[in-house]
This record gives sequence, structure tokens and C-alpha cells, in this order.
Amino acid sequence: MNVIAKSTTVSPFLRATATVVSNGGIPVAATGKVHKPKVTVPSTVKRALGQTLYQDLLTGPTCISSGVAGSSVAGVYGAKTIVQDLVGLLSASADVLAMSKCEIKLDSIPEGKSAVFKWRGKPLFVRHRSDSEIAHEAKVDVASLRDPEEDSARVKDPKWLVVIGVCTHLGCVPIANAGDFGGYYCPCHGSHYDASGRIRKGPAPLNLEVPPYEFPEDNMLVVG
Ligand code: FES
Repeated sequence: MNVIAKSTTVSPFLRATATVVSNGGIPVAATGKVHKPKVTVPSTVKRALGQTLYQDLLTGPTCISSGVAGSSVAGVYGAKTIVQDLVGLLSASADVLAMSKCEIKLDSIPEGKSAVFKWRGKPLFVRHRSDSEIAHEAKVDVASLRDPEEDSARVKDPKWLVVIGVCTHLGCVPIANAGDFGGYYCPCHGSHYDASGRIRKGPAPLNLEVPPYEFPEDNMLVVG
């Protein structure tokens, strides 16, 4: 399943205006491989979605949701339209969505970089933290935080931060490696997150959400 954004906020725009060009790609199911449909989005829709959302969600790598892809490969890739993708998502049963998992090969993310994937219709940030970032976040005085959480409580392996890329203020998609604390910056209303995804400045009330995930083997992350 190739989901572009939260259907509750974006689908009306896309149903009405998005033009999608089929690129003749081969279906991939339950593999976690990247699939990038060629998409043309009118300027009005770009403005509505915001530059970050446009860049991250329409051109960023896609993490295939195994349960959903397995159930609707023919329908989704037969015509390759965003609208069909969204319809496919909406028609998937809740239990299938609940079971959907995302496999990510970690050696594709260089140290110091934050990659964006799509998981259950949301952007997913996977950050390969440097030693200096790890040390810096571990030293933060938790008592000074709006949403107090130790860095160690937010990561299973200090090298990897895994968070949902949705600002906890009003749901925009933050920009990686930006803002006053070097983690993520949400330009919508100026929320600054650190490299642990914790809110440090601006109107957002909570830290970026940490989804369920595990490292079943070396170099492999499974979210969901
Ligand atoms: S939505 Fe991110 S700061 Fe308002």
C-alpha cells in the first residue's frame, strides 16, 4: 500500500485535483522495497499540503505496509492512482491495518541522517544518530522539558530514533535536522524538537510519538 498522507485531511484534495501518471512499476508486496510512483501535483495542492509534506510524502521513500499490500496489490497497481491507493486503504479491514508492519534495512540510512518512510498512512522518521547526538540528548535535564521523558526511554538502541513524523501541535510534518535543537522543526507554527523527538520550544504540547518497533536482527528495523 502506497499511502500519501492522512486520508482524513488530504484525500478530499487528492480526489478532486491530483493527477497521477502511471510509471509502469512492478508491484511489491510485503518486501519493504521502495516504490516511487511518478506524481504530478497541482500548485494549489502543493500549497495546501505544505512544502515539507509534499517533499517527504510524495517523493520520499515508501515503506510498504505488508498486510495492506498483500491484500490489494492488483487493485492498487493496476491503475496506479493516489485515489485508488486511498480507496484501497479505506477498504482494508481494521484488523489488517492493525497488523501492518514496516521493514526497514538500516544500512540504507547514513549516520547523521533522518530518513522518512510511510507507515499506516503517516510519515515515519528513522534517525541514525551520531555519538555526539546520543551523548547530547542523554545529558538533557528532563525536569526542564514540557513533556519530560528521558532519551533512554524513547529509544531501544541509542543509535536509532524512531518516531512518527507528525507535529503534536496541529499535525504538520516537521523538517529533519532543523530548528534550535538540531532535531526536527515544524515550520507551521514554529515547534522545535530535539534529536530525541522531544518538544523543546514552540506551541506543540507533546514529544513526537514513538511507535511500536523492534530490531529482529542486525541491520533490520520492523515498525508495527
Ligand atoms: S502544527 Fe507544528 S507547530 Fe503547529
